[in-house]
Amino acid sequence: MLATLLFAAFLSVLQLVNARRWNNTGKGSIAFEEAYTTATLIQLTFVGGSSTLLANLQDIHNQRLQSMDKNAVDYVVLSCASPCTQGIANQTVAEEAARTFNDGLAAAISNNTLRFGAFAALAMHDPAAAATELRRAVTQLGFLGALVNDYQVSGPNSDTLLFYDQPAYDVFWETVTELDVPVYLHPRTNIKSIQTPLFGHAQYLQGASQEFAVTLSNHILGLCGNGVFDRFPSLQILVGHLGERIPSDIWRIDNALAGVIGGSAIRPPMNKTIAHYLQHNILETTSGNFATDLLKFHAAQIGFDRILYSVDYPFVAFEQGEAWLQTLVKVLEPEELVQLKRGRAIEVLHLDR
Ligand SMILES: *[C@@H]1O[C@H](CO)[C@@H](O)[C@H](O)[C@H]1NC(C)=O
Ligand SMILES: *[C@@H]1O[C@H](CO)[C@@H](O)[C@H](O)[C@H]1NC(C)=O
Ligand SMILES: *[C@@H]1O[C@H](CO)[C@@H](O)[C@H](O)[C@H]1NC(C)=O
Ligand SMILES: *[C@@H]1O[C@H](CO)[C@@H](O)[C@H](O)[C@H]1NC(C)=O
Repeated sequence: MLATLLFAAFLSVLQLVNARRWNNTGKGSIAFEEAYTTATLIQLTFVGGSSTLLANLQDIHNQRLQSMDKNAVDYVVLSCASPCTQGIANQTVAEEAARTFNDGLAAAISNNTLRFGAFAALAMHDPAAAATELRRAVTQLGFLGALVNDYQVSGPNSDTLLFYDQPAYDVFWETVTELDVPVYLHPRTNIKSIQTPLFGHAQYLQGASQEFAVTLSNHILGLCGNGVFDRFPSLQILVGHLGERIPSDIWRIDNALAGVIGGSAIRPPMNKTIAHYLQHNILETTSGNFATDLLKFHAAQIGFDRILYSVDYPFVAFEQGEAWLQTLVKVLEPEELVQLKRGRAIEVLHLDR
């Protein structure tokens, strides 16, 4: 009995000692769609960009931290730059790459967890294996959730696409909800056999201008339509770029899915509306989309508490994000601004857990 009591006391002291400490200034921002990668992953998958961009993607403690300091960013959650392991078709190679990346990132931030946290990279070929790696990353490495870059490529020709809205992925979502961590769904560049016919006529539409939102919104709407959130009502998915356009279009999407527009014959096997899932299961961040009118419109559509600040460094500069936050002083109530730039992040990422 005494031993049990002593052990319980020991555990609670351990928990106190292990409670997350982060650079809580009470006013700085928190950003968590912030990309990092390694030379190995740049070789294994295609990560395009200038030499400066590639250097910034591989940096944590130098120009990235300096820019955070200059722009009043208290805390950043790093994740693996797209496509990361979603671009590796060979399951064994992808699983090993994810584990290596996660261990490497944990080590890289270990001397400054005051400023940096991490989302796990996951190979998504085998949902049970993905769940196991997520559990390891959260419980052993102290990661705050996961970030996956849209669909997983697989198959001998790298052209079998895996979407996580299928029943086989329930085992993964079950672990996510049990661990009570968010999963960020981030865009990726399409495989060539899709990208060329769709975007060959206007190549400037590849990437952030159009392709990312179009492709990723299909995946997110699939999660809704295929009933994932009915089966896991507590599941929280993070979506960047102000929701990949979905909250701008709820009226039309829900009308079409209800068969109101054009008498659509195929109804999705979902029990609620897209609006409901947006209000309860999907959180959007402002990464790379600092549009004030859209922020206000979305707040009215899905609720202001579903919107969180993020930047998308190094694709977007912390300067640009901070300059936008300064303009919001005139638009939002002081407590709303605090909620947007840090308050909800502390809750959603469980920073004080
Ligand atoms: C905490 O973050 C602020 C930026 O908001 C930065 O200026 C300060 O140096 C940071 N403190 C530590 C100990 O890293
Ligand atoms: C995947 O990669 C491993 C390790 O390089 C290799 O042994 C295996 O044959 C590959 N599998 C396929 C299906 O290509
Ligand atoms: C953490 O380690 C890196 C790499 O050695 C170094 O550049 C950085 O200054 C260190 N940060 C702290 C806070 O000690
Ligand atoms: C969704 O609706 C179907 C049909 O009414 C029902 O069988 C199923 O139990 C519901 N699923 C959830 C998770 O509520």
